[in-house]
Parts: sequence; C-alpha cells; structure tokens
Amino acid sequence: MTRPLEGRSAIVTGGASGLGECIAHRLASEGAVVAVADVDEPGAQLVAASIVKAGDDAEPMMVDVTQEGEVAAMVDAVVERTGSLDILVCSAAVEVRASLEDTSDGDWQRVLDVNLKGPFLCLKHGIPAMVRAGGGSAILLGSVLGAIGSPGYAAYCASKGALVNLAKQAAIEHAPDHVRVNVVSPSASETGLFIRVAESTDDPEGIKAMVAERTPMGRLATAQDVHNAVLFLASDESAYVSGAVLPLDGGMAARRV
Ligand SMILES: NC(=O)c1ccc[n+]([C@@H]2O[C@H](COP(=O)([O-])OP(=O)(O)OC[C@H]3O[C@@H](n4cnc5c(N)ncnc54)[C@H](O)[C@@H]3O)[C@@H](O)[C@H]2O)c1
Repeated sequence: MTRPLEGRSAIVTGGASGLGECIAHRLASEGAVVAVADVDEPGAQLVAASIVKAGDDAEPMMVDVTQEGEVAAMVDAVVERTGSLDILVCSAAVEVRASLEDTSDGDWQRVLDVNLKGPFLCLKHGIPAMVRAGGGSAILLGSVLGAIGSPGYAAYCASKGALVNLAKQAAIEHAPDHVRVNVVSPSASETGLFIRVAESTDDPEGIKAMVAERTPMGRLATAQDVHNAVLFLASDESAYVSGAVLPLDGGMAARRV
C-alpha cells in the first residue's frame, strides 16, 4: 500500500527532542524524507540515525532557526538532496518561566527570537521552495498558551499568540500558491518541555496529576495526539484546510476562553 507521504520531502525544526522528534519519526514512517533540523547537532544525528535504522529516510541538519543564513542554507540543502520541499514543521521553541515583571529583556528577546522569528524565517525561506514544488504544507507548533494566558509565562504566551496570526497571514498570502499554513496547539504533553519542567520539581507526579485534573478530558496530551494531527495537516486529507488553529488540549481552551 502506498504511504500517504511517499515521495515528499519534509523539514522538522526542533526535531532532536520531544514532540519534534516524535513528529520526525511519524512523517518518515508515512513515507517522507525528513530533515531533522536542530541547534542540538548530536541530538539531531541520533534521531536521524534511529529513523534510518527503522528503514525510513532522514538526515540530520544543524540549524539555529534564529539565523536567517542558516535557515536559508537548510532549505537549499533539502531541495538539493530531495528535489523539493513539501512539508515544513516548525517545532523548535524555548520556554522561560517568568512573570511579566520578572522577565528580563534578554529572556524576552530569546523566546521571541526562537518561537516567533524562527518560524517567520522558516516560512520566509521554506514557502518559496514549496511554491516551486507546486505547493506544500507548513505546520507550526503553537500552544494552548497562544489562546489563553497563564501566570508565569509572559514571553512564551506572547510568542505563541503572535505565531497564530503569523500563520493566518501566511496562509492568506500563499493560498493562491497552493501552500497551506496551519497551527497545532497542544496543552501540556507527556513528551518534551512540560514533562522536563515537571520532572525538575520535587513532585513530578503531583504536577502531572494537577495539570491533568484541570484539563476537561482529565489527561495530558500524548505525542501520538500531536503527530496524528500533524500528519493530517501534512497530508492531502486536509487539502482545504489553511489558516486554521487545531487545539490539541482536551477541551482546555474551549472551557476558559
Ligand atoms: N511538550 C509540551 O507539553 C508542549 C505543549 C504545548 C506546546 N508545545 C510546543 O511544541 C513544540 C515542541 O516542544 P517540545 O516539548 O518538543 O520541546 P523540546 O524542548 O523537547 O524540543 C525543542 C527543540 O527545539 C530545539 N531548539 C531550541 N532552540 C532552537 C534554535 N534556535 N534553533 C533550532 N532548534 C532549536 C531544541 O534543541 C530542542 O531539540 C514547541 O513549539 C512547544 O512550544 C509543547
């Protein structure tokens, strides 16, 4: 049976860890050739090697998404290797836990640079390559904190909120080019950023249980919840979906907004 992404070329930024790693594995297992792009070069090498070991196709790529020259070179290298760019997943992000008053100028800038400027540069250089390929799909990893506020995440909430409107703007601008741009917005997940924060506390299980309890569905998001949604948006099953924000939050934002 033909796999849904057979013959397509994908970039996953932040692919060395967490949700990005799981997404890279899933897209590759569905037939895509995946560039595992991350500032963490050894991490990207490990993920790409494990995809190849599983019989699929991936290549590690060292890139800092805040550096325009590196992002442009990443897109060029992918197009040179595979002939096209069809799928762009922007998962790279950083999180600083600080209230508005406690957020330093440097932390604000770092979060906005990685979480907002990074996807901007990836779209800026990735979309023209998709246009040359006849179209494509960009999927940005947002957050439930792009729809609601949360004490202690001033810069992160701002970056994820702005990401939504960047995606909508890009979706409209490039709809005639057959390039779709969408956002998936997870709440706390069993993989990646949230779990590392929970595990750095004295009571990881208590924190996870508390967050799960506050979620209408009563559980955390799983990596599978996220990569299923990314696969849908990457594939032709979502051919008429663009400029959308898909909440993956067990009903959390619906309850609070
Ligand atoms: N895990 C969660 O609970 C959760 C919840 C909501 C939203 N998200 C979002 O999902 C995405 C993935 O999060 P995660 O939990 O997998 O995070 P993670 O920290 O596990 O992975 C992030 C990756 O981004 C890379 N990265 C950081 N700065 C970079 C840069 N300048 N250039 C290139 N790569 C860089 C890191 O090296 C890391 O490999 C993020 O956009 C995050 O905001 C995660």
